[in-house]
Amino acid sequence: MDSINGREIASLDLHYCIEGDEAALYAWPVRERIPVSTAHTLAAMRLPSDMTSEILAVPRQDAEPSSPDFGDAMCMAPFVNLAVAIGGGSSPCCLFSEPIGDVRRQSIAEIWSSDAFAKLRTRFLAGKRDGRCRRCYKTEETGGLSLRNVFNSQFGERAPSLAAMQGDAPALPPPVSLDVRFSNLCNFSCRTCYHGASTKWFADAKKLGWEQAPEALIPTFNSSAEGIAAIVPLLDNVEKIYFAGGEPLLHEPHYAILAKLLDLGRTDVRLEYNTNFSELELARVDVLALWSLFTHVKVGVSIDGSGKRGELVRKGLDWDVFAENVRKLKTRCPHVAIRFDITVSIFNIAVLEDLVRDLMALGFTDPDVLRFNVLLEPTHYSIQILPKRMKRRIARRLGLFSGLLAAAPVVAVSSSEYGTAKPQLQHVIDHMLARDRSSEIEAFRRVTSQLDGLRRERTLDTCPELAPLLAPSASAIALSWIRERILPRLRQATA
Ligand SMILES: C[S@@+](CC[C@H](N)C(=O)[O-])C[C@H]1O[C@@H](n2cnc3c(N)ncnc32)[C@H](O)[C@@H]1O
Ligand code: SF4
Repeated sequence: MDSINGREIASLDLHYCIEGDEAALYAWPVRERIPVSTAHTLAAMRLPSDMTSEILAVPRQDAEPSSPDFGDAMCMAPFVNLAVAIGGGSSPCCLFSEPIGDVRRQSIAEIWSSDAFAKLRTRFLAGKRDGRCRRCYKTEETGGLSLRNVFNSQFGERAPSLAAMQGDAPALPPPVSLDVRFSNLCNFSCRTCYHGASTKWFADAKKLGWEQAPEALIPTFNSSAEGIAAIVPLLDNVEKIYFAGGEPLLHEPHYAILAKLLDLGRTDVRLEYNTNFSELELARVDVLALWSLFTHVKVGVSIDGSGKRGELVRKGLDWDVFAENVRKLKTRCPHVAIRFDITVSIFNIAVLEDLVRDLMALGFTDPDVLRFNVLLEPTHYSIQILPKRMKRRIARRLGLFSGLLAAAPVVAVSSSEYGTAKPQLQHVIDHMLARDRSSEIEAFRRVTSQLDGLRRERTLDTCPELAPLLAPSASAIALSWIRERILPRLRQATA
């Protein structure tokens, strides 16, 4: 590669930086960001020799924090991160199975220095596991990369200094990493999601008796102002903020936090997102304009299917608007790292290849921008419910496809903490084959028929490969005939 965006490499101001486990090369003024990881790529780029040697001195493995052996228990999350969930429950991370604090009743300082947090830290330092971290252990069991692994890789170098503070909670610095979800406000009602994460789900949930609260909106703090006031004192020292939701790009406090970071000159804070990427503006504030002022922005864009299939699964999605928004991001904020977050479920497992191709067609040459997140719950949407023959067919096809992806000629080498597409797809296949849940096909059929009715949609038309699951079996027909016709007559006769 002699040029970037048509400009001679020699004319550009190139500099590299190491971010966690990433080595990235920036080229100004074209604002192209090129992840690098091998000497080969660098040599091929014919960088000025002094810079090449400087970069070659920092190979990818050295870029990763030198961390102690974390074994199968230790996790850095409770030492560095505070997760504030919808409704106020707080914990060391979003996967911890129960809240150990509540921002509606306690200050963040109280939660951070609470006995509950201290006990968990002590437990991890003693090398003991905690049952509330079971989701991470489960992911690791089938070879997946857990959130524990991600925290340890991002913050592991601090472990020795934190261990020295054992038993001295006040000395522990406030959280440097935040995961904050201001409410369940969302404009989508994805089939795999629920009212607890989306206001838009409320109407359907109410009809089905699945609502999580009496009102559509479930706020996290007692008010937006209180939420902003709780987070602002942490901004001087914070290093990373992860925004999810609900839909974070619709949350007014999110914009207030970015504005405050700009006031403080903290444009170095790493911003990370999970978003449905449908709205890029709130009250005329343009999120792309804001992101262009921050150095490190990572956007996980959720998408579970292209075209009509995506619109069925993620109700509220308009595929054309989504594609246009992705193009806008690529053009206006080329320094922003995009990742496509695909929740792998019964709705897309058979056509993952099509989705990947459609996403790549939006201008991404690197398949490692993909993150396959296997759906665990609700179990009736799990890929484990598929009949055995269908599983075997899918496993064979996906195996071949992941091989093709791995062989694709890519300029950039993976910069994703979730690893390249190939092992991720292998994890998807392993998970699918690990357990037979076909007994839940009936539940899938029932829920799908209820939602199709409420939403006036026909899953069968959009996902024809699911016909064997959606067509009622002979025994189910017989059972419902007995329940609807015979039983009432028997009851009448015996009354
Ligand atoms: C709850 S959403 C909140 C953020 C934002 N509204 C979005 O859709 O990206 C966070 C992520 O969870 C995914 N998700 C939805 N239902 C899920 C389920 N049942 N299991 C696992 N992930 C799910 C979404 O696709 C998204 O990537
Ligand atoms: S966009 Fe996100 S929060 Fe909204 S319904 Fe879909 S998954 Fe849930």
